[in-house]
Amino acid sequence: MQLKHLEPFRLSLEKLKEVSTRLRKDMIRGLGKHTHHRAAVKMLPTFVRATPDGTEKGDFLALDLGGTNFRVLHVRVMEEEQKMVKMDSQLCAIPQEIMLGTGEQLFDHIAACLSEFLDSQNLKGQTLPMGFTFSFPCEQKEIDKSILIRWTKGFNCSGVEGEDVVKLLKEAIHRRGDYDISSVAMVNDTVGTMMSCGYRDQTCEIGMIIGTGTNACYMEEMKNVKRVEGEDGQMCINTEWGGFGDDGSLEDILTEFDKVVDRTSINPGVHTFEKMISGMYLGEIVRLVLMKLTEKKLLFKGEVSEALRTKETFETKFISMIEDGLENAKKILTELGLTWDLVDARVVRLVCETISSRSARLCAAALATIVDRIRANRGLPHLKTTVGVDGTVYKKHPNDELQKAMHFLAPDCKIKFLVSEDGSGKGAAMVTAVAQRLALQSRLLEESDGEEDEEEKVRS
Ligand code: GLC
Repeated sequence: MQLKHLEPFRLSLEKLKEVSTRLRKDMIRGLGKHTHHRAAVKMLPTFVRATPDGTEKGDFLALDLGGTNFRVLHVRVMEEEQKMVKMDSQLCAIPQEIMLGTGEQLFDHIAACLSEFLDSQNLKGQTLPMGFTFSFPCEQKEIDKSILIRWTKGFNCSGVEGEDVVKLLKEAIHRRGDYDISSVAMVNDTVGTMMSCGYRDQTCEIGMIIGTGTNACYMEEMKNVKRVEGEDGQMCINTEWGGFGDDGSLEDILTEFDKVVDRTSINPGVHTFEKMISGMYLGEIVRLVLMKLTEKKLLFKGEVSEALRTKETFETKFISMIEDGLENAKKILTELGLTWDLVDARVVRLVCETISSRSARLCAAALATIVDRIRANRGLPHLKTTVGVDGTVYKKHPNDELQKAMHFLAPDCKIKFLVSEDGSGKGAAMVTAVAQRLALQSRLLEESDGEEDEEEKVRS
């Protein structure tokens, strides 16, 4: 079946290679001291300098904000069993009016949820180290100082962009006055995913999310991170690849449908790449294509239903359901008030497959850029590495498309995908645990240096 309206979504492997080359250049721009402020791909330093080595341990609190829910978790890292266990957790919905309200309302809501959890766990007296997964682009100054660059994924709370998120959280907790917190390590969800997978598989040095939004992080050589002092070792970089194309560099592959999705979103011009890939937008792209095909009388005998005409009624989860089987397609089309025949159901399935396949192939192009960069950084002919992955879009779709494209685009890299369970929550605990381990190691090193100096003195 050929439909000319779907052609612009079919990206050849050659085109994907071009996209990957463009991203490579943008990543270098994002890392540069003098070029980063204009770069579409932000390449944000995270101040995470090491992945887990398996000796981490202790009890931690983890906060997780990134979608329509906020979660608090109590996590125990057990060295002997090499396990991270979620002791308990609590979910608080973030209603739309808070997502679009003031920053103060948002952080008061978070502080209230945290308070309830601490009460239920009898943890108010203790001050456990805390990791905060905040899945938005932040300019991190330190591990515990993180300035929100801009909201993405449907959030738009006033008075938060340009502010330190840790400070806003602490202020909200002080306004309540019923408990206090100690240090907070700020983490992006990609970093949380890499770190939680990294505890299971110590070769994991990339984290990728394909969920409501899309993004990836990876371990970069410090000497290439020009905006942070120091040449030695590595630092995890949050690429914020969702912003790829915001400077117009993807104009040639944007379809008329992508442009409508962007124009009618709450943040036009922002996160162009993400809008072609992630769960927040895929359903809407499909809906717009179905509308177009109906207007052209290629579907439903030219009759659009009220539901199909309404923005965001075609949910992203419908795509994977329809890909799973024609029976699901029929059910969903009926629910959407459409009068369909078998050909219609088949065409709808083809549309879904085309949109989700483009999403997977674009992700592959971006991921290939990262793995090949790690390989080149280390001067290796071949690289074997693990990518920690999370996100409903990844989990709900068959991933052979992504893997096939990766083979072609990064032929010198052998990649294992490790699906993270609860990574963005547990990962924040792991970031905190690794930071503690590094601090302890450097204290021990200083002490032993001190002892050596003493010995020197005694000897002379
Ligand atoms: C958006 C956010 C990014 C996050 C991603 C996945 O792209 O800007 O920080 O990692 O969504 O949740």
